[in-house]
This record gives sequence, C-alpha cells and structure tokens, in this order.
Amino acid sequence: MTDLIPNQRHLFDIPDEVAYLNCATMGPMPLAALEAGRAGLAKKAQPWQISTADFFKDTSSLRPKLARLINAEADTIAFVPSVSYATATAAQNIALEAGQSILIMADQFPSNVYVWRDLAARTGATLKTVDEPTGNMSLSDAMLEAIGPETGLVACSHVRWTDGMKLDLEAISDKCRSVGAALVLDLTQSCGAMAFDASRVRPDFMVAAGYKWMLGPYSAGFMYVAKHRQSGRPLEHNWITRKGSTDFTQLTQYTDEYGPGAQRFDMGERSNFALLPALEVAVDLLLDWGVARIEHTLGAANRKLADQLAEIGMPCPDEDGRGAHYLGAKLPKGAPPDLTEQLTARHIHVSRRGNTLRITPHLYNTQDDADRLIAALKQAI
Ligand SMILES: Cc1ncc(COP(=O)(O)O)c(C=O)c1O
Repeated sequence: MTDLIPNQRHLFDIPDEVAYLNCATMGPMPLAALEAGRAGLAKKAQPWQISTADFFKDTSSLRPKLARLINAEADTIAFVPSVSYATATAAQNIALEAGQSILIMADQFPSNVYVWRDLAARTGATLKTVDEPTGNMSLSDAMLEAIGPETGLVACSHVRWTDGMKLDLEAISDKCRSVGAALVLDLTQSCGAMAFDASRVRPDFMVAAGYKWMLGPYSAGFMYVAKHRQSGRPLEHNWITRKGSTDFTQLTQYTDEYGPGAQRFDMGERSNFALLPALEVAVDLLLDWGVARIEHTLGAANRKLADQLAEIGMPCPDEDGRGAHYLGAKLPKGAPPDLTEQLTARHIHVSRRGNTLRITPHLYNTQDDADRLIAALKQAI
C-alpha cells in the first residue's frame, strides 16, 4: 500500500502541551488556511479591492478541487453552508408518496433526521430507523437488509458520527437502485479522511460540512448533485446562480435559466471572500496528501492507539467494521461523568457520545499525544 505521511503538526497552530484528538467535533484549520481567510476578510475593509471577477474566482477554482476529493465531475458540485441546507434541498427534490418509507440508521446526526421526519409528515411516507443490530450482524448489513420494495429513500453516512461504525455504501447504493430508492449521503464525518468514489457509489445527493475532516472553516461545505437531479428546484432563488450573472449591468434582465450543472443549488452569497479561500487552502492540502494516504496514515496510528485502549479496558470496534480514521472506545462501567472535563483540564481533547469516547486524531497528532491520553485515562477510570 502507500507510504505513510509524516507528521504535519508544523502546519497547525497546536501548542506542544495540547493533545487535540477531536477532529470529529472540529478540525483545526491549517495556518496557511487561516492566513488566506484573514486576507479575504481584510478585503472587506477596503471593498474597492473586491472586483466583479472576485465574485466568481474562488467558486470556479474550488469546484473542481472539491470534485476531485470524491472523484466526481466539477459540474456536480454546489456550495452549501451546512448539512441541513443540503438535506433540505434533497428533501425538496425527492418525490415520495404514502406507503413508501424513508430509511435512516440508529443514532444518525440530527441534521440528517429532522428533515426526513418533516418529509414523511408532508408526504405520508413512513420514517423507519434501522435499529442497532444484535449478534454478529453489522450496521451496514442491517441497513442493507432493511431496504425493500417500499423504500423510497435511504439517508445515511459513511461512518456513524457517534462511534465510527462504517457502512458499505456501494452495496447500499446497489440495493437502492435495485428497488428504485433515492440515496442521500452525509459524508461530514469521513470526507477528506476516507476514500469515497462518487462515480462508483452514485448517490442522488451527497453533502460534507467543511469544518471537520476537511480542515476548513465553519459554514462552508459542499454538496454533490447527481446529473439526473440537476434540473431540480433550489432551496433559494438568488441572482448569482442565474445564467449571465457575471454581467452586473444586466441583472434585471431576469431569466429563468441557471448557470451550468449543479450551480443552481449554490447558496445565496456563495462568494464568501473569507471562507472560500480558507477552504481552498485546506482542500489543496488534502489533495496534496491524498485522501487514500491520509486514511492509510491515520489507520496505522489508530491501530496502535486502539491496542493501547484495549489494554486499559476500553475496546474499539474491529478495524474492518469502523472507519480507519475514527475510534469509538467503549467506556467501562463507572467511568466518571466528568471524564472529558478531567481530560480537558490536562489539555487532552476528545468527546463523549453516550457510552463511547470518541477519539479522532489527525496528521498533527504525535505518539506523545496518544501516550498522554492513555496515561490520563488510566488515572481517571
Ligand atoms: C454527521 C454529521 N453531520 C452533520 C453535522 C453538522 O450539521 P450541520 O452542518 O447541519 O450543522 C455534524 C456535526 O457534528 C455531523 O457529525
């Protein structure tokens, strides 16, 4: 397989004493991305520095790069501020009727749940949650088994946000297609750290927030829209997505035509002069490293850490069942309710979801970070 990426902490603003193992909550932006964001924000203090071309520059250069992250074509990409924006767009464009069902998995993230509750209430479709499987069955197999002729839509992720359990999206997509169900994916907890091939999975819609594993700023994400969905109805009706919007003198020549591809779904004020340059620097880094190499490198480090965790009675799921970049360690009975606060007091940052300690390192973490976590956990539990 590929070689490991050397440690990249020098690219980040993370002091030696901080063990930041919480990328699943918020990825730190690289210093160069911060600089690009600052420069973009500074332009707003001198607006005469912002040209008409600047409204189009960042989105034009970023769209193909985002597409490369997921092996898609540039014209399938739209800019969105959040996952909920993208799932609302998808919900507006997927026709369901009473008798059909919407399938989600247990403990799915709320921005990929409430919208389907609402769609079910509006259409008479039934929202079905695939329960936590028992015995040897995987979450992925439980999802597959639940897809049937009445399924109109499956909405899920690549890894579950609470514990990193992985889904076989190609198999799920094949089954969806065999019963005529739409597929909506939220890849916020995997995009940038886990290989995903849109040309193989072929979802109807897919979204990733940019502020976690993509190491970008908050409120700047992207949505993939399959070609056969690109004539759909956008959530909002803004000026810049319309055909001819580059000519600011002609904007009141109102038109029903849109820019090409998925552009009609771009959010209003998509040309964010601070956030997009920051996101672009972060995406450049991801593409330089290569998503498969990131996954491989994080996987190797996490394998070691999972062994250390198992030794102190906090097992993680087997590697073939979870995302390589994502550790969800089971907490022993009697773990203190304020465990994460105790760790934070020692500058060790992880997060807790129910009975699972979510430990999500990235390329800036060192063996020392891992050792400090283990030593602190030994004392606390
Ligand atoms: C799986 C997943 N999806 C989405 C989000 C964020 O959703 P939104 O962009 O709607 O705030 C998170 C944040 O933790 C998440 O873990």
